[in-house]
Amino acid sequence: MDLSVQLAPENSRGLLLTNPVMTASGTFGYGTEYTNLVNIQKLGAIICKGTTLEPRSGNPQPRIVETASGVLNAIGFQNIGVKALITEKAPIWADWKVPVIVNITANTIEEFGQLAGMLDIVKGIGGIEVNISCPNLRGGGMEFGMEPESAAQVTAAVRKATSLPVIVKLSPNTHRIAEIAAAVAGAGADALTLINTLKGMAIDTYLRRPVLGNVTGGLSGPAIKPVALRIVWEVAGTVQIPIIGCGGIVTGMDAIEFIMAGASAVQVGTATFANPHASLDVLAGIEQFLQQQNIDHITDIIGATKR
Ligand SMILES: Cc1cc2nc3c(=O)[nH]c(=O)nc-3n(C[C@H](O)[C@H](O)[C@H](O)COP(=O)(O)O)c2cc1C
Repeated sequence: MDLSVQLAPENSRGLLLTNPVMTASGTFGYGTEYTNLVNIQKLGAIICKGTTLEPRSGNPQPRIVETASGVLNAIGFQNIGVKALITEKAPIWADWKVPVIVNITANTIEEFGQLAGMLDIVKGIGGIEVNISCPNLRGGGMEFGMEPESAAQVTAAVRKATSLPVIVKLSPNTHRIAEIAAAVAGAGADALTLINTLKGMAIDTYLRRPVLGNVTGGLSGPAIKPVALRIVWEVAGTVQIPIIGCGGIVTGMDAIEFIMAGASAVQVGTATFANPHASLDVLAGIEQFLQQQNIDHITDIIGATKR
């Protein structure tokens, strides 16, 4: 059975995964935290925690709250910063079989380009995922992902600064998703990740105040799966570049739905908090389905759902 997928077919460096299951940014640390728990080398790829130019301590507590079939988070990019990532994490990743993709976010277009340029020739980095979709960062993050023009400008700045495969991660918090996806593809993205979290909130009725220190947060988990699937479906009908489906994936069959809707790969996020093996369980579920259905190549079912 051939589970391999190429996520950057037009890029000279390419992004060939041995299987389509990746971990979602912010839910698997730097991968290093999981080496004693999970056989991480069996994963298709690891996307690391969102990385900024300078280290960040994140938003005020509380930063995470459980909701019906999901989680609201407002971490606010607590991270070690790009310099520490290059000197402390990348040398470890360079010895791994599993490719690591660095998720980046910034407050300005120039900063996005600067980050991409710093990562360009670092050993141990297989690609860049550009987050223009985070609802938890004021004056940046999601704002770039709300309009086709600004989304394309960020993509073009990153594209200019690096020859690494560039994946752009889009927000569901817009009605212009298909236009934005087309603009990002036109600006040189190799692939898209769909989707980041949906903006939401929760209220503590006894205290009569928002639960999250940041007031609002991003909703993830099974609650958002139908929305994510619909967006993958819509965008797959619009763009030619590979799509990575993300949002509420817990089982292999969830992943198969995304692949049939048009995704070439998937990311597992919130499910990892309840079960550190979730991504490998998703992989096993995909294998089992393909075996049952006598499908030899995963690529045979990408976009298999009739329009
Ligand atoms: C605690 C937490 C932290 C996250 N941090 C990031 C991040 O740093 N960068 C990013 O692009 N997405 C981040 N995300 C979004 C996830 O990568 C993913 O897009 C989203 O959670 C939907 O997938 P899921 O339902 O499988 O969790 C975060 C999600 C959670 C729950």
